[in-house]
Amino acid sequence: MTPNAFAPATLGGLTLRNRVIKTATYEGMCPGGMPSDALVEHHRTLAEGGVGLTTVAYCAVSPDGRTFAEQMTMRRETVSPLRRVSDAVHREGGAASLQLGHCGWFTKNAELSTWLPRGPSLVVNQYGISAGKPVGLAMNEREIATVVEDFGRAAGLARDAGFDAVELHLGHGYLLSQFLCPATNRRRDRFGGDLDGRARLALDVLARVREAVGAGFPVLCKINLRDGFRGGLELPDAVALATRLEAGGADALVMSGGFTSKTPFYLFRGRRPLAEMIDAEKSRLQKLALRYFGGRVIREYPFEEMFFLEQARELRRAVRMPLVLLGGIVSRANIERAMSEGFDFVAMGRALIADPDLVDRMARDAGARSRCTHCNICVAEMDLGGVRCVLDGPRPA
Ligand SMILES: Cc1cc2nc3c(=O)[nH]c(=O)nc-3n(C[C@H](O)[C@H](O)[C@H](O)COP(=O)(O)O)c2cc1C
Repeated sequence: MTPNAFAPATLGGLTLRNRVIKTATYEGMCPGGMPSDALVEHHRTLAEGGVGLTTVAYCAVSPDGRTFAEQMTMRRETVSPLRRVSDAVHREGGAASLQLGHCGWFTKNAELSTWLPRGPSLVVNQYGISAGKPVGLAMNEREIATVVEDFGRAAGLARDAGFDAVELHLGHGYLLSQFLCPATNRRRDRFGGDLDGRARLALDVLARVREAVGAGFPVLCKINLRDGFRGGLELPDAVALATRLEAGGADALVMSGGFTSKTPFYLFRGRRPLAEMIDAEKSRLQKLALRYFGGRVIREYPFEEMFFLEQARELRRAVRMPLVLLGGIVSRANIERAMSEGFDFVAMGRALIADPDLVDRMARDAGARSRCTHCNICVAEMDLGGVRCVLDGPRPA
């Protein structure tokens, strides 16, 4: 029998109206770091279009956790504008999750509390050169403990803001992923070495977040199946991490991959929009670097539907907890295939940027599919005044 993706299902005690999650895609709708009317409308529209759970993207747990200055930071003043987002989603019958992250050394934010950003180990930070942050330094134990506290505090505030769930960002080369990655974590203390050491920070964060939000509040973790480069996190470590996160009380895993500073298009697959990235880049130095080296250092990966399926199957065999399949899901046939292979939910990014009403259309029409062409211009231009699909025509002036 074909599985029914459009019937209610529970995730960590929360009932969702269907199996479709809008995954975190940075909205660029928080001028001055504050959630705007555009952010409310963006997520309201997604909920109106039928998603079960919509994820508000990248909220930094502290000011130093921002990759650039315009990102949202979780603090008391953010709670009330965020409540407008969760209220709007609830009024449309959807549920709302907030992605919590820290960028570690991967920042071009000039306004840090220390001169240089911090991560697991000393590193060159090409992304930060134009902002005078060319190097990342190793965190000490006090700084690590602060990060753990910040995640807990931010998760508590997300709950106060009416969110139904939080998603911890353990992937894509941000701080927790930098700790998990053997190439970027060369520490000799208890936060480095084998997987137990490299996963310690992620597990401490999960434990602190659970303590802050209490039992019965869903905590999802977005993890990498592979970082996508030699020396990075590989699938066997991802499997081992998944079993530890399950034991640590995570409610579901969203499975992704790629390391933004090294393999950014491993995350997406499809066209590498270099010309648009150069146009969108604000720093002249970065523009030049992209023009001369971009073609050589930024690799392109061909798009295929359900591009993480094969690796995700390994995790399905290893854990019993709910798993969320992500990556190139564009049709109802993809969702039904995912469910028939034992994945509990799917998450969709670009397909829902292109077609926010896709879930409702798929529920009505078995043949419905997204019009997204994986041109990835939405990625190149996400910071130019709000994420949008280029197929909608020119950006309004
Ligand atoms: C414009 C854009 C912004 C993104 N921002 C984030 C983000 O803030 N956090 C995150 O975890 N992933 C982010 N992603 C990655 C997506 O969550 C997802 O992993 C990726 O797009 C693959 O899913 P898809 O094939 O359904 O688009 C972003 C993707 C896009 C297209």
